[in-house]
Amino acid sequence: MNEHVTLSPAEEPVTIPNTRKVFIKTYGCQMNVYDSTRMGDALASEGYVATEEMGEADLILLNTCHIREKAAEKVYSALGRLRDMKKARAAEGRELMIGVAGCVAQAEGEEIIRRAPSVDVVIGPQTYHRLPDALRKARGGKPVVDTEYAVEDKFDHLPATDRKLIRARGVTAFLTVQEGCDKFCTFCVVPYTRGSEVSRPISQIVDEAIRLVESGVREITLLGQNVNAWSAEGPTGNDWGLADLLYRLAEIPGLARLRYTTSHPRDMDDRLIEAHRDLRILMPYLHLPVQSGSDRILKAMNRRHTGAEYLALIDRIRNARPDIALSGDFIVGFPGETDQDFEDTLKIVEDVNYASAFSFKYSTRPGTPGADLTDQVVEEVKAERLERLQALLLKQQADFATSCVGKTIDLLLEKPGRMPGQVIGRSPWLQSVNVDAKTSQIGEIIRVRIIGTGPNSLFAEPAESLMGA
Ligand code: SAH
Ligand code: SF4
Ligand code: F3S
Repeated sequence: MNEHVTLSPAEEPVTIPNTRKVFIKTYGCQMNVYDSTRMGDALASEGYVATEEMGEADLILLNTCHIREKAAEKVYSALGRLRDMKKARAAEGRELMIGVAGCVAQAEGEEIIRRAPSVDVVIGPQTYHRLPDALRKARGGKPVVDTEYAVEDKFDHLPATDRKLIRARGVTAFLTVQEGCDKFCTFCVVPYTRGSEVSRPISQIVDEAIRLVESGVREITLLGQNVNAWSAEGPTGNDWGLADLLYRLAEIPGLARLRYTTSHPRDMDDRLIEAHRDLRILMPYLHLPVQSGSDRILKAMNRRHTGAEYLALIDRIRNARPDIALSGDFIVGFPGETDQDFEDTLKIVEDVNYASAFSFKYSTRPGTPGADLTDQVVEEVKAERLERLQALLLKQQADFATSCVGKTIDLLLEKPGRMPGQVIGRSPWLQSVNVDAKTSQIGEIIRVRIIGTGPNSLFAEPAESLMGA
């Protein structure tokens, strides 16, 4: 298969293999992970195969994240290294194309080509169905920037994922149901990088879910920046919310587990809370970011709820599903955050008791209202607060893991473990669990008893083996 054809564009002839290989590096959130798989689909239909080896790729695609300054800067340092790689390749007469996709592409567009002229293609999160086209044009020699929001829906133009590829990707899958955000929290770039809120229609989602399940997927996580704001017109012209969609997906034969992320507290409606009570297929885990425990800061962040309202919501969710594990996101050092505001954040963490959480230092993002605020918190204070918050969150996470020891749970076997004879599964609460099992059992849900905790995972033994003991 290593036959080469020679193209002779502009200056030097460059040889390219007739089966091209693409290496996709994904930064950022789960939505980017999903988009990377769908860009892979678009490229597969052009004859590209995915490679895990950057060195052998003919196309290197960075799917980027703009959420914090560090995330965005990482892209430019990676592009610096790729420029050298491209030069070395050119010296050997081999092609290397470089593409930038994702939220930095959307936010910076042309600027990327100015700062990194070795980039061939810049493509946005809403335009990547046109990636093959852009690559073809860029092969003519001039870089292509395609970040104009398309009138058409990319999902109508992407090829359905190849069933073999789904199988190769494993027994859990992401499925984007909603994109964009209309909330405009004052710290956040997402409304600018992903555009306004759009929900995918029911039939598109159901078809994609069925295809995943028919190809071996047992657990689907529905994705959206505000996934619980998903809405669509139901079959009888009635309004459907995320709860209705979950009930519909629960009917798919062979689908064992459903999850969804990320939710906004404002959009947790009664139906969705009832779904957590009534729908066994819906896993008892909820990522519900609060960002801060201070009402003053919540207001400045434009989160549009108070700490007390968040706590009351958590109570209602826990009443509906007492074993639910909660996770959250936090920002420390938002402009104007005082010691007292930060103490309020620690207090809300104590009150909720999270099973897991992510916490970040506030990062000023150009173009967001937060960037215009004058009372920025100094770096040292941010660092100190983050350390204190993370110590508390880590303790809660460890306590939660310890509280699982002795429990008998359902485990979805996902992938081979590090040791032969071991398989890694996922608990209902999204923890990684190591257990003795055969790799041929991957995809099965087995009963196990949790017997211990490790730094980032749990240990279990098959529950049956205990019965005779
Ligand atoms: N839609 C989700 C959040 C998506 S961004 C929600 O509303 O909860 C993921 C997380 O990144 C956010 O929850 C927030 O904690 C963090 N984040 C976003 N912008 C940030 C910024 N400018 N600085 C630091 N952290 C930020
Ligand atoms: Fe960003 Fe707020 Fe929208 Fe979440 S809800 S994506 S934090 S603007
Ligand atoms: Fe990052 Fe874009 Fe996701 S900014 S967090 S990749 S929506």
